[in-house]
Amino acid sequence: MIGFLELACSIRRRLDGNGEIVRRRTSTNDVAKIVSKDLKRQAGGAKLADEEFISLESVMAEFRLSNNTLKRMMHHMSDDMDRGLEGGLSKSTIAMLPSFVPEMPDGSERGKFVAMDLGGTNLRVMIMEIEPGEEMRCKQFNTRMPNWAQHGTGQQLFDFIAKALADFLIEKGVDQDGLPVGFTFSYPCDQTSLRSATLLRWTKGVTATGCVGRDVVQMLEEAIKRDGRINVEIMALINDTVGTMVAAAYQNKGQQCDVGVIIGTGTNASYMEHTKNIHYGVAKATEPYPYKQMIIDTEWGGFGDRGEADYIFTEYDRIIDRRSDHPGVNSLDKLIAGMCMGELVRLVLEKLTRHKVLFDGMGSETLFTIGTFPTKYISEILHDDCGSYQHTRQIMGELGIDDYTFSDMLLFREVCVVVSRRAANLAAASIACVLNRVKRPKMIIGIDGSTYKYHPFFEHWVNEKIRELVDPGLDFKIVQTGDGSGRGAALITAIIWRLKKRKQIEEQNALNRRLSIENEEREKKERKSEEKEAIGEEREENRWFDDKVDVIAAIGQAVVDDPVIVAAHEVEEVQGNEEREVENVNGSREESKEKEEEEEENSSPNRKAKLDPEPLIQQIPYPKTLKNENGVHNRSNNSTSASSLSESDHENDGSAINIE
Ligand code: BGC
Repeated sequence: MIGFLELACSIRRRLDGNGEIVRRRTSTNDVAKIVSKDLKRQAGGAKLADEEFISLESVMAEFRLSNNTLKRMMHHMSDDMDRGLEGGLSKSTIAMLPSFVPEMPDGSERGKFVAMDLGGTNLRVMIMEIEPGEEMRCKQFNTRMPNWAQHGTGQQLFDFIAKALADFLIEKGVDQDGLPVGFTFSYPCDQTSLRSATLLRWTKGVTATGCVGRDVVQMLEEAIKRDGRINVEIMALINDTVGTMVAAAYQNKGQQCDVGVIIGTGTNASYMEHTKNIHYGVAKATEPYPYKQMIIDTEWGGFGDRGEADYIFTEYDRIIDRRSDHPGVNSLDKLIAGMCMGELVRLVLEKLTRHKVLFDGMGSETLFTIGTFPTKYISEILHDDCGSYQHTRQIMGELGIDDYTFSDMLLFREVCVVVSRRAANLAAASIACVLNRVKRPKMIIGIDGSTYKYHPFFEHWVNEKIRELVDPGLDFKIVQTGDGSGRGAALITAIIWRLKKRKQIEEQNALNRRLSIENEEREKKERKSEEKEAIGEEREENRWFDDKVDVIAAIGQAVVDDPVIVAAHEVEEVQGNEEREVENVNGSREESKEKEEEEEENSSPNRKAKLDPEPLIQQIPYPKTLKNENGVHNRSNNSTSASSLSESDHENDGSAINIE
């Protein structure tokens, strides 16, 4: 194609006033003149290098990136992503910012939410109604951000937003309903929770002062307060890529979405990362984050800011960066997204014109003026049906170029193709880099953004290039996602609402569990203290019993030692000898029976318990008669365990009464 175009370029078919085609050849003389002129001339205000013979081929070659170069870039990007997860922007140009969104919609979301979207040049306010299984209902208000709001003070910007929000809610009669608000704010923000986000820098041309380094949610809340007319609750601040990912999953009827991408005025991507890998984000969190995953806002647009991708940049990219509102930052953003794509094409057209490769060197003032070639021109030119050149002619007119040839139109178109194809290739490499990290079996990529949507070949190019670059064995599908920023914000607010409710229920359950455990503990304690009391009482009784035993032992000894009783006993003994002889037979039988019983008892499992009563009792020398009557065994049984106390109490009582 380029070869053909070069030929077309050198054999210039010029349409003269009569519509005749005039053939002209760019002579060596012409070229020499061009080169010498170029040495003095600036391309769009920037001095050109002391080149060079300029041909379409040489210019276009700068924009062509081989797969090897793209893979090299992917490798560097992935390293940067690791560093970003580790230490954020201070360690990497890809900041890998935490979103604190832990999960995707599950289809059960419902409710009425406000979604606000401040992204490129527009501000949208939406009232979204979500019902499971139904299409989301949306009422919205859309306005262009005036220059004074984008480039004035932060207070002016946020007052403008708050006013737009209040006006719309009042108009719809929901201004005092305390509706939850999800705010899609598509600039790099360092979040420490869902609703606290410090603006790291402006991108996409916004320059409102006094905002960088401040909490965006707080600024919005202050503005709403200043306005003083509405009652709302800001639930979450999200990046547009996060919204796109969530909206794509919802649109896909609950299917997972693995990567959310925006290729619009700016570019960026989000994906779900394991919390354990998010060191920087989680370390800075102001609230506990109990979930296993979190959507990460990569902010890949910053790639190249520290010179790590210089091999990709052309002289045109450098000019764009130098002249931008934010020089030195968001380098990849400027290479891929719509913010700069039109201007990039214009710079190339200007250079080709100044070198007489185009329009025979006769451009127009408009063509040579910065910012006169909006990115939408590219889509429009490429939308031209083969051979019609309807849009191209119209745009030539708008640029003030009325002297052009058919080959000029071809070249014009070719520049648009080459510049936008490089953007698609870089976007594809960036997406492939994320896919290679996510590595799930069949990955879904949700993509939104005007550059991607309105360019007739962008989607096809991106798809094709990802296939060439993604690791073998990985499969993916691209889903064009409509209004990720609006629907996504509403859905995330609904998810947060659901999680909040789930948390409340979990907290209530945990509280109930704690209360019931505390109750159990209390009951246990009460039981224990009752048991202790009972043991104390028994000890008292035991002590009482021991005292009695001592008394009885003493009495017994006195009886044994009393000489009168001894004498009487001796008399009785003589008298009783005969009777005893008769009884002995029976007596010895009884004794041996007693012994047997005693042995049996000793060998029973309760033996230890029975033989280990309170030592005091065992040591007492019981008088023979008493021992048999009241039984050491009875005593011992009573003191084996706390649980047997109440039963034994009665036995003790009984024995005590008997003894007395
Ligand atoms: C911003 C991102 C945003 C992207 C797409 C970039 O310029 O830095 O935060 O997601 O544009 O809107």
